[in-house]
Amino acid sequence: MKLNPQQKSITNSTRRGLRFFDNQPVAQDILTEVIAGLSRPQKVLPAKYFYDEQGSKLFEAITKLPEYYPTRIEINLLRQHREAIAKLLKEDVWLLEYGSGASLKIRLLLQAIKPNCYVPMDISKDFLLASAESLMEDYPWLNVYAACVDYSQPIRLPADMITSAQKLGFFPGSSIGNFSPQEAQVFLQGVRNTLGKDGAMLIGIDLQKDKQVLEAAYNDCQNVTAAFNFNILHHINRVLGTQFNVDYFEHKAIYSEEKSRIEMHLVSTMDQIVRISDSNTADGESKNITFKTGESIHTENSYKYSKKGFTDLVEGAGFEVRECWSDDKDYFAMFYLHCC
Ligand SMILES: C[S@@+](CC[C@H](N)C(=O)[O-])C[C@H]1O[C@@H](n2cnc3c(N)ncnc32)[C@H](O)[C@@H]1O
Repeated sequence: MKLNPQQKSITNSTRRGLRFFDNQPVAQDILTEVIAGLSRPQKVLPAKYFYDEQGSKLFEAITKLPEYYPTRIEINLLRQHREAIAKLLKEDVWLLEYGSGASLKIRLLLQAIKPNCYVPMDISKDFLLASAESLMEDYPWLNVYAACVDYSQPIRLPADMITSAQKLGFFPGSSIGNFSPQEAQVFLQGVRNTLGKDGAMLIGIDLQKDKQVLEAAYNDCQNVTAAFNFNILHHINRVLGTQFNVDYFEHKAIYSEEKSRIEMHLVSTMDQIVRISDSNTADGESKNITFKTGESIHTENSYKYSKKGFTDLVEGAGFEVRECWSDDKDYFAMFYLHCC
C-alpha cells in the first residue's frame, strides 16, 4: 500500500462501537481540483463530487428506476452465484467494499461468506456512517470497520486493517466505468497491492449494448438522474461557498459508440460567470469561470466493456479471471478475479 502525502485528517475513532477511519477529502483539495477542472478547454468536474449525503440518496433512488437495469441484474447475479463465490474463498476472509454507498448489495453475500470483518469504503462520510451502523444493527455478529476515503487517490489503510486474512475486494455498481480504461488499470493495480497475494476481487461491469437502452438508463422519465447530475453543483456550492445556479444549466447524457461510454454533462443555458474562491482564507485561490451558452461541464463518464475487453484490462493489472457470470441478455457481468 502506498503512502499518500496528501493525507491530512487521519483519525481512528468509534461511533456507537463502529470502528471508523476518516480520510475524507478536505475543502482545499476539492477547491484545487474544481478550479483545475473548470479551467480546461472542455470543463470537467470529477464524478466523485456527486456524492454528499443528498447525492448518495439520489443514487439510491436511481437504482430503483424502471430504466436503470444494472442494479436489478447485479442483485440477481449475486443471489444466483453467492454460494459459488463463497466456495472459492478461504475460511478467514476480510471483505473490502470500494464505494459501498448504502451497503445493500453486501447483505446478499454476508450469510454465504461470513467474513471476519467488513470494510465499507466511501467518500460520502455521513451516508457511509449511517449505512455502516444500520448494517451493524442488522448483523450483530459482523465486525465493521468503515473508512471514509477517496479511492481515486492512493489509499493508506491504518495498520490494524492490515491483516493476514484473505482479502476479497468488492466493487459493484459498475463504478469502475467512471474511470477511463487507463485509470481503471492503475486503480486495479493499487487494489491488487492492497488485496495481496491471496486476494480476490468481485467486480460488476456494465456491458456494451444498444445505445437506446443505455441512454434511457441515464435519461429517466422522472428526472432523478438529472437531479443527481445537478447535485454536483449543489455539493460544490455547499463545500466551497460558490454560487452556481442550477437553473442556468441543463442535464445531458449521451452514449458515444466510438468511446464506448455514457457521458453526462451540465450544459450552460446562458452566458454566465461564476466566481470560485476559497471562502475559508482571505488570500486563497480564486478564479472567475466563464460559460458561453451551450458550453458544458463534463461531469461523468461511464465506460461500457465487452467481456474480452475487460478481461484484457484486468490481466494487465495483475489479476486473472476465474469466473464471469452475466444475465441472459448479456447486459451486465459479474467478474470474479484472483490476484496473480
Ligand atoms: C455508483 S455508486 C455505487 C453504490 C453501490 N456500491 C452500488 O453498487 O449500488 C458509487 C459509490 O461510490 C462512492 N464513490 C464514488 N467515487 C468515489 C471515490 N473516488 N472514493 C470513494 N468513494 C467513491 C459514492 O459515494 C457511491 O456510494
